[in-house]
Order: sequence, then structure tokens, then C-alpha cells
Amino acid sequence: MPGLVVVGSQWGDEGKGKIVDFLAQEAQVIVRFQGGNNAGHSVKVGEELYKLHHLPSGILRSDKLAVIGNGVVIDPGVLLGEIEALAKRGKSASNLRISDRAHVIMPYHRLLDGAEERLRKGSKVGTTGRGIGPAYSDKAARLGIRMGELIDENLLEEKLRFAIPLKNKLLQAFGSETTIDEKKALEEFAEYGRLLKPLVTDTGAIVDEALSRGDKVLFEGAQGTMLDIDHGTYPFVTSSTTVSGNAASGSGVPPSALHEVIGVTKAYTTRVGEGPFPTELKGELQERIAEKGGEFGTTTGRSRRCGWLDLVVLRYAHSLNGFTGLAITKVDVLGGMDEVKVCTHYRLDGRKLTRFPSDLRILERCEPVYESFKGWEDLDSTRMEDVLKGGFSRLPRSLMDYIRFVEKESGIRTVLIGLGRRRSELLDLRKER
Ligand code: GDP
Ligand code: IMO
Ligand code: MG
Repeated sequence: MPGLVVVGSQWGDEGKGKIVDFLAQEAQVIVRFQGGNNAGHSVKVGEELYKLHHLPSGILRSDKLAVIGNGVVIDPGVLLGEIEALAKRGKSASNLRISDRAHVIMPYHRLLDGAEERLRKGSKVGTTGRGIGPAYSDKAARLGIRMGELIDENLLEEKLRFAIPLKNKLLQAFGSETTIDEKKALEEFAEYGRLLKPLVTDTGAIVDEALSRGDKVLFEGAQGTMLDIDHGTYPFVTSSTTVSGNAASGSGVPPSALHEVIGVTKAYTTRVGEGPFPTELKGELQERIAEKGGEFGTTTGRSRRCGWLDLVVLRYAHSLNGFTGLAITKVDVLGGMDEVKVCTHYRLDGRKLTRFPSDLRILERCEPVYESFKGWEDLDSTRMEDVLKGGFSRLPRSLMDYIRFVEKESGIRTVLIGLGRRRSELLDLRKER
């Protein structure tokens, strides 16, 4: 299908990067459509680990066009650093295009992000501190600076001479000890503009033309459905629309360009930062999953909270994204456990609740109800090879039961199963089932 969207169905870090990297082999264009460098997508190719924040995961395949769409917010210094780091590892970014409509994250956005969090005291969001919220706020307030302006030195100067004094006043009012040096910022960002200029263009036209040619386009989401600004656990969310519908708007193409939507879910759940998490585990089990799953943030290094898979969340995500297929990642992390649990619904005041509530006060009173499964054995390399060759029926029986149960309860067909961290450790069921 020409337009395929990949989005997270939980609170981020579901393994989207790895799934996009795998599917990118069949696509000609890969587009990131929202978020910024709050995202951290890890892809392991052989023994090489790549951590991508701004760059679409498709950048690792040099014959593809990688696009940063209009819905993204960009920290140009970070982006250039990422491009440089890849170049040092022999990967060129000559196949990258950046939307002239994407907004720029300025140093005052980062400072405001920190200052706002400090002011919140006991009710912090636990942001990544990358300036994402303030950058999207400025976009909505029509005070933002777009990439098309960053690359035009005169326009940039005009915009910054207006914005910086205003933001410095705000920073002082927010109790920030640091403010922005106008002259330094002007020089720094004019240089970023010069360096990035060759890559900045109307990317909507590029994606549109690719689709018209019949090329395959992969739309790469960041964060996850439960971090969506409208549908997530507000206010403990990010500042962009993370659901599949935004792949169109955030890339500059019509919704009719989105033909398939793959939802990525871990076989369990993780969350970084603050906010509700109904199936969260504490103690030994949490530690075991976190350790085996390497659950430490790609972006901030913070440890991720871990819990069981939540089908209330998955069904809700399906209702918002319209998944045509499910990618279940990290089933290997639960390998070797005696018992694996899945939350099928919540109980609220003695009643069964199957739809995720919008009111966090109600959510707090919800009690998850679990179905218990027998654990499955770890797969050694011979067994892994056998599964990758032989398909679904070669998986451990209890894992097959687990996956079938998730499919039945969510109404989504599983198309990919993550069996390990490497690019090759992925079972592709698209032809088989
Ligand atoms: P993303 O933000 O959704 O792209 O996910 P992250 O990259 O932040 O976090 C997912 C982590 O799990 C990364 O370290 C991946 O390398 C790793 N990963 C992805 N799929 C699998 C899998 O099937 N098994 C294991 N063990 N690790 C995986
Ligand atoms: P990927 O793309 C997990 C979380 C932060 C915080 C909240 C708001 O790697 O899945 P922000 O800096 O966006 O204003 O922070 O959102 N968050 C993520 N959690 N994965 C991500 O991205 C995230 N991006 C933001 O931890 O709770
Ligand atoms: Mg991540």
C-alpha cells in the first residue's frame, strides 16, 4: 500500500524506530510528521546501535528519501549534531529533506520548558526538557519561527529581535537565572540557517509527488497515543498530536494518502515521566522487566516505569488510530517468566469499564482486572532461527496463546513480532496470516 503510518499505541518507546527501520526497506520515502527531539528511536543494525532524535529512522537506508515534515519542531543545533554523528559513522544525510514549514526550537523554549517545570513544583509533567511544549505554544500563538525563516538571515533577525526581549522578560518573571544573549543567538542561528539551507524545501510537494508516482511512503510517528495532546492522559502528555490522523496534516498530504496504520505495542507497558499508569508494577517484577528490557530512556537516560500490557489502552488506541495491523515488540523480554498478565478491563465502583476515561480523577479510582498466562521460554539462537524461518507456529505455545488473546480482545491482527533488539530479530507475519 502506498501510504503506511507507524504510530505508538502506548506512552512512547514501543519500538517504533526498529519497526520503521524494518518497513523502510519496502518504501521510497520516510516522513517524520510530529514531535521533536523529545523522541528517541533506537535501531540496532548488526552490532551498531543508532539513537535517532530528529532524523527519521529511514535515514539509515541510504537509498531512501528521509523527510522531516511540517508538523515537527526542530532544534537546529541538535539536528546538525545528529547529521554530523551519522556522517562520522559513514552514513550520509544527503537523502534528507526538511520542511520549510516546520517550526524552530529556540534556546528560550528550552529555558522556558525548565522554568515552567520548576514552577509546577509538585505537579511536574516530567518533560524531556527539550523545549517542545514552549515551541508548539509559540506555533499556536503565531509567534513561532519556521525553518523557511531560519534560512533567511534578514527575516530571522527581524523575528528574533522581536521575540528575544519578550522571552527574556518571561524568563525573568518565571524566575529563570539564565536569559538569552540576543547577539549570540542571532549569530548562532544564522549559521544554522546557512548550514541547513540546502535541505530545506516544501516537503509536502515531495511526499505528494512520491505518492502520485505510486511510491511507498512510510509515515513515522513519535511518542505514543497516550501522550497525544487531545486524547492522552492530559496534562501528562506531549504537545503534539501523536495519532495516525496527524500523519496527513503533519506531512502536508490528504488523509486519503493514509492506507494502512500499524500500531506498535510492547508486550508489556512502559512510561517515562509523570502521570497515571494503571497497570504499573513496583518492586522486583518491575526491576526484572526494566533490566531485561533495558528500559532506560533513549533521550534522557531516565529509567522507565514498567507494567503489564493494558488492553483498555490498546483498544482505545485502536479506536483513535484505526490500526490495520499490530506490531508487538519485546516479547523476548517477558521470556523466562512463570506468569505473564494482561489487563482486560478496569473495575470502577464495582462496575466493568472498558473505555479509557478522560477524567484522571476517575482513572485514579479504576482498578485493573487481569487475565493470567503461563510464561514462555527464552529463545536461544537455534530456536530463534527456527522461528524466523518457520513462522508463527514455531513460537512457544504459551506465547502463541498470549498473542491470540491480545488479537481477539483488541480486534487487531498481529503483523510483526519483535523477538530481540537487532534488525533481523523480527517475525514478519504479513504474508503468513
Ligand atoms: P521508540 O521510541 O518507539 O522508537 O522506542 P525506543 O527506541 O525508545 O525504545 C525501544 C527499545 O527497545 C530500544 O532500545 C530498541 O532497540 C529495543 N527494542 C525494540 N524492539 C525490540 C524487541 O523486540 N526486543 C528487544 N529486546 N528490544 C527491542
Ligand atoms: P518516543 O518517540 C516516551 C514524554 C515525557 C513527558 C511527556 C512530555 O521515543 O517514543 P515533552 O518533552 O514532550 O514535553 O514531555 O512526554 N515523552 C516521551 N516518552 N517516549 C517519547 O518519545 C517521549 N516524548 C515525550 O517523558 O512525560
Ligand atoms: Mg523512544
